Amino acid sequence: MNEIPFIDLRSQFKALEPEIRRRIDQVLEHGQYIMGPQVAELEARLASFAGAKHCITVASGTEALLIALMGLGIARGDEVITTPFTFAASAEVIVLLGATPVFVDIEPDTCNIDVSRIEAKITSRTKAIMPVSLYGQPADMDEINAIAARHGGISVIEDAAQSFGATYKRRRSCNISTVGCTSFFPSKPLGCYGDGGAIFTNEDRLAKAFREIRIHGQRERYEHVRVGVGGRMDTLQCAVVLAKLERFTWELSRRADLGHLYNEAMDSIGIRRVTQRPDRNSVFAQYTIMVKHRAALREALSRQGVPTAVHYPTPLNRQAPYKEYCCGDCTPVADCVAREVLSLPMSPDLADSDVSRIAAAIQGSAY
Ligand SMILES: Cc1ncc(COP(=O)(O)O)c(C=O)c1O
Repeated sequence: MNEIPFIDLRSQFKALEPEIRRRIDQVLEHGQYIMGPQVAELEARLASFAGAKHCITVASGTEALLIALMGLGIARGDEVITTPFTFAASAEVIVLLGATPVFVDIEPDTCNIDVSRIEAKITSRTKAIMPVSLYGQPADMDEINAIAARHGGISVIEDAAQSFGATYKRRRSCNISTVGCTSFFPSKPLGCYGDGGAIFTNEDRLAKAFREIRIHGQRERYEHVRVGVGGRMDTLQCAVVLAKLERFTWELSRRADLGHLYNEAMDSIGIRRVTQRPDRNSVFAQYTIMVKHRAALREALSRQGVPTAVHYPTPLNRQAPYKEYCCGDCTPVADCVAREVLSLPMSPDLADSDVSRIAAAIQGSAY
């Protein structure tokens, strides 16, 4: 039995091959591998897509979060509220700057930060709230922005590494808070062929800071006005993302269709799944279900050519580098969800019949 790809980058490449090769060739011809014209071209295209005033491309999603925090002046002694149920980068950048991640538990159905628990964690040291738009679906950003506004001086950074192209109340992910950060890691909804990322904001002052920090704190060449990083995105990777934009709108609608097809299939066989709220459109970076006998189901599916993944097996506050920021039994929902989540194959080139085959394999496995 042929194996369904977990993420099908090959079919996507085949569909876009002439455009990808044309775009890469352009860069090879002009040879400006760092900060070539494709960088500004991509930033303009992405800013327009997100409806944001500024887009600053950077070396990765992790770098986007780091630069965003640096530009906001987050430093030692500050606290940043975030979710424990995310990829390590979300908390890593906070700790790297000497600040403290404050973990707030998640909702059991969306797996996003539980907004009703945020306010209790705010102190005089809270400088930012960093929700993660997990699996491609934004958290309740209006509510988070309102909490931040009530407490004055708190910024909201959307970790939108998994959600470029999603919407929240008709606004684009990456443009629904002070700052939005995304990733172009190859398997993300909009991916390049290596590492890449971008920061979005409507504030001129922040955009200027992010641009300076991205390039060693330089304002002019060899004039360093602040401490920065080597955080630029390569011209070649920008060219790849430009090519991928050619069919991104189609990919988004295909992801939505597949997500709904999966929902119907899971509901009909009685499998619990991550819920999508009616006021937002997920990009289904992952399609994730929740099952009690996960290991056995994974094995059964693998035997039938259905690869799976676990995002994430352990909440960050249970992992060695972040344990010290945990307050005992403070994230019971994340602890429970981490034992049950299972991501199924998802990418725009998945066929409807693949979804049926996966559902039948789950049903036949009797878990
Ligand atoms: C939620 C989240 N934040 C941050 C990152 C980091 O992005 P990158 O791998 O591009 O550094 C990822 C990537 O997996 C992610 O999923």
